[in-house]
Amino acid sequence: MRAVDLILKKREGHALTKKEIVYLVNDYTQGKIPDYQMAAFCMAVFFQGMAKEEIVNLTMAMVNSGEKMDLANLPGLKVDKHSTGGVADSTTLILAPLVAAAGVPVAKMSGRGLGHTGGTLDKLESIPGFSTALLKDDFLKQVEKINLAIAGQSKDLVPVDRKMYGLRDVTGTVDSLPLIAASIMSKKIAAGADKIVLDVKYGRGAFLKTRETALKLGEIMVEIGEKVSRETIAIITNMNQPLGMAVGNALEVKEALLVLQNKKRGLLRDLCLYLGTNMLILVNRVRNFKEGYHLLEELLENGKALEKFAQMVSEQGGNPQVINDFSLLPQAKNQYVLKASRTGYLGKLDALILGQTAMLLGAGRSTKESSIDLAVGLEIHVPFAESIKKGDPLLTIHYNQQEKLAVVLKQLATAIEIVEFPPVKEPLLGARITKAGTELLF
Ligand code: URA
Repeated sequence: MRAVDLILKKREGHALTKKEIVYLVNDYTQGKIPDYQMAAFCMAVFFQGMAKEEIVNLTMAMVNSGEKMDLANLPGLKVDKHSTGGVADSTTLILAPLVAAAGVPVAKMSGRGLGHTGGTLDKLESIPGFSTALLKDDFLKQVEKINLAIAGQSKDLVPVDRKMYGLRDVTGTVDSLPLIAASIMSKKIAAGADKIVLDVKYGRGAFLKTRETALKLGEIMVEIGEKVSRETIAIITNMNQPLGMAVGNALEVKEALLVLQNKKRGLLRDLCLYLGTNMLILVNRVRNFKEGYHLLEELLENGKALEKFAQMVSEQGGNPQVINDFSLLPQAKNQYVLKASRTGYLGKLDALILGQTAMLLGAGRSTKESSIDLAVGLEIHVPFAESIKKGDPLLTIHYNQQEKLAVVLKQLATAIEIVEFPPVKEPLLGARITKAGTELLF
């Protein structure tokens, strides 16, 4: 077999066989196929797409490119959750302990932030002492002991994805739905859970810009899950506005803790309850949606989810006092309160620009190698579409570098707009895709 023939075959719009896909993935993993040929192949896929069977074969070839996590010794069905990435999205910090507190084991492997979107590992590392670098055995033992662990993904899991993603990033082939679907699903399948809930985001702050594209990606991934016996539900959600009210690592931990303390309502809490209920349904922990939702609400109200978070922090070397003492989190030296320039309604709260502004402050990475400042970021005080009076606090900028303030303020002026009349609110939930089909939620 020759890589060039497979590139040509795909370029002409033909489907590759399983054997051909396995050859491409294996030989690329081992360095026998050079980057330029894999780049050409990705570009051919970008233009020609892939049939369902090819995507499944690509996904499984990627899974088999490295180690797989074996969760079989943990009791019961295991469920994982993945978000395609957004702004002020600290759902994993809330959802993982919440579902674990409901008695369902959560063995979660997470990633770091890149660009304007945050990553769970960075957020957790703002808790003093917290380690996300767990050895495989320790990770599994912890899940066995407390039903919960969140750690960085092992480098040996789907190594070809890292190689391919790096290549796609510089060859204009990231936004190909078959390649995205195989990339995400291969990592979830290799991570070992029996069932998967996906939060597929669309909008200004997401990498997919429209609900239609998010729907297509969700449908492909649910089908891959079905084909490889890992039942998957995809929830399509809106990311035009930030999900929560904090953007930045320690600030997002604080916000997640407020939700876990049952002191904070809003979209972030709503989405955690919705995704969590879907997770409980998938593993048959509850009989229906209502039962699941009530159970999770109760675990927020009675402090059990917060307690589970504290147990995880303690097991992973962090100070569990953080759950009630936010002064233990890194604090920026300076705060600047941006006030409303007029009376009206918050008519624009642009997730992308807010994410980019937090990145400019140092909260996010422009490249995988950049270092980040865990303390800095933005705290939004008024939700989208709410009324606001002239002079009311709109947002607090937490910053360490004085010289950045002017440019941050200039950027924020393009992210926020106060309008005369209440704007139309867009629903958070766009669709729910299961093996039975797609249910549009608005
Ligand atoms: N997220 C992934 O993990 N892979 C992609 O290809 C795109 C987004």
